[in-house]
Amino acid sequence: MKKNIVLLPGDGIGPEVVSQAVKVINAINDVFKNEFSCTTELIGAVSIDANGSPITGEVIQICAKSDAIILGAIGDPKYDNDPTLKVRPEQGLLALRKSLSLFANIRPIGTYEISKTSSPLKEEVLKEVDIVIFRELTGGLYFGEKSISEDGTTANDSCTYTQQEIERIAKLAFEMAMARNKKMTLVDKANVLETSRLWREIVQRMSSDFPEVKVGYMFVDNAAMQLMINPRQFDVILTENLFGDILSDLASVITGSLGMLPSSSIGVNTAMFEPIHGSYPEAAGKDIANPFATILSVAMMYEYFNLNKEAELIRKAINWALLENLVTQDLNTDEHLSCSKVGDLICLFIEEHGDIKLNRSNMEHAASII
Ligand code: IPM
Ligand code: MG
Repeated sequence: MKKNIVLLPGDGIGPEVVSQAVKVINAINDVFKNEFSCTTELIGAVSIDANGSPITGEVIQICAKSDAIILGAIGDPKYDNDPTLKVRPEQGLLALRKSLSLFANIRPIGTYEISKTSSPLKEEVLKEVDIVIFRELTGGLYFGEKSISEDGTTANDSCTYTQQEIERIAKLAFEMAMARNKKMTLVDKANVLETSRLWREIVQRMSSDFPEVKVGYMFVDNAAMQLMINPRQFDVILTENLFGDILSDLASVITGSLGMLPSSSIGVNTAMFEPIHGSYPEAAGKDIANPFATILSVAMMYEYFNLNKEAELIRKAINWALLENLVTQDLNTDEHLSCSKVGDLICLFIEEHGDIKLNRSNMEHAASII
C-alpha cells in the first residue's frame, strides 16, 4: 500500500519523538513492503520563527491532501510566559484541526505491567482498565468567540456547540461502544452549562438508535475523581473539547506516564495521529523523551488504514520493550535508555518480525550492530 504522510514534528521534544515514528514507518515498509513516504513541514513555535505564523496556509493545504498526518508536540515557554502575545504556537494546531475538520479525538487508556510501578495509583485500582476517550476537537471553548475589553480588565471565551457537531462525534462513540463492551459514559457539566444540557439531550435521543449500548451520564468533576479511584467502571467516555483535554492528561496517571498515551484525530477526509503529551521543553534536545506515545499513534495510523498486521507488530514491539524494561527514564528512573535507543530497539524487533530473544543483558551488543 502507498500512502503520503505529512510529519509535523513541531516544538520541544516533538522532533525527537517523531524521528522514532519515522524509523518505525521505514521498518514497517521493509517488513510489509508498503510504500509510506513522509514529508516534513513546520508547525508551532518553529513555524512562527521561520514564517511569522504558527502554520502557513500552504502547510494546511499539504496536510489536507495527505493520507495522514503525524504530529509531535506544540508549545514553547517563551510564549507561555507572555500572555500579551497575539501570535501563539498552539494556534497552528487549532487551525489545522479546524481546517481539516478533525472533530473526533480518540484517546485510548490502558495499563501495562510497568504501570504497577510507574503509576502512583494502587495496583488494585489499575486492574482491567481499558478506556477510550472520545474528545470533541473542533468546538467548545477552544473555538468560541474570544474578546478582551479595551482596558484589559475583562476577558471572554464563549462555549458553543451545535447539534450537528455533537451528533457526528456521538455517532462514532456509540459505534465504538457497540464494537467494544456496549457501555458509554457522557461526561459533562449539565448541572451548570447549557451546552452540556444540549449534549445530554442529543445523546439521550441518539441512544434509541443504539439500544444495546448502556449509556451513563456523569458530571466532569465527579468523573475526574472516579477516574482516579475506580477507573475500570469506564469503557467509552464521550466528552467535549476542554473536558477531554483535561481528563486525558489525568487518565495518563493510570498508565503511569504522559509519554505513553497516543491519539488519533479523525476528520472528514484525512486523519492526524499525535501523542497527547506536550512539548516538554525541559527535555528538548536531550534524547530522553518517551517515544511510545508517538509510536503507538503510528500503530493507530496503521489501524486507520486497516493494516492491522502492521499495527499488531508495532504493539507487540512496545509490549516487548516494556516487559524487558527497555524504556526511557519517565518509566524507570534507575535503569533507562535514550529515546533514540528505544526507537532503534523497537525497529530491530520489527525487522526481526518479533522473533527476537533480546533482553537487557544482551541488548547493548545488539544495539551496537543496528
Ligand atoms: C492536546 C494539547 C493541545 C490541546 C494544546 C497543545 C493546544 O494539550 O492535544 O491535548 O489543548 O488540545
Ligand atoms: Mg492536552
